[in-house]
Amino acid sequence: QEVFAAEMERTFIAIKPDGVQRGAEDCLELGFKLVGIKVVVPSKDFAQKHYHDLKERPFFNGSCDFLSSGPVIAMVWEGEGVIRYGRKLIGATDRQKSEHGTIRGDLAVVVGRNIIHGSNGPVTAKDEINLWFKPQELVSYTTNAEKWIY
Ligand code: TYD
Repeated sequence: QEVFAAEMERTFIAIKPDGVQRGAEDCLELGFKLVGIKVVVPSKDFAQKHYHDLKERPFFNGSCDFLSSGPVIAMVWEGEGVIRYGRKLIGATDRQKSEHGTIRGDLAVVVGRNIIHGSNGPVTAKDEINLWFKPQELVSYTTNAEKWIY
């Protein structure tokens, strides 16, 4: 069972500064295993690393300023299909396109203030987890509930 758990997919989810101010962490019911969590105020330089894929986009600088503007709740969640499910729960980047029942669909107002971040695929998930967390900040454990899930 431990080998199986070690191979489980992990994703990086962060409540952005606007989400923290609005208490959005309350709505995060992923139903997966939380293996890392901390509250940080990222520096601008750190935010630029996080959004490095968006370097050429016009909103890059604004997104980095915003991410580094206050406390962020950084998390790593683990489970089968957690990357895709996390994105589904979060909703579309643009709130106007997010479904009701998603975190952004219910709480966000404009695209630049969209409450929460979630890795968009396995490669970014690995990169983002490595950027935000040291290996020793992540824990492996099994819960009694797991035999009822997998
Ligand atoms: P992106 O990685 O495309 O979206 P997502 O957060 O859903 O993975 O964009 C990163 C952030 O940049 C996004 O959460 C908000 C901001 N952004 C804008 O401000 N304007 C835009 O047109 C887009 C696409 C993103």
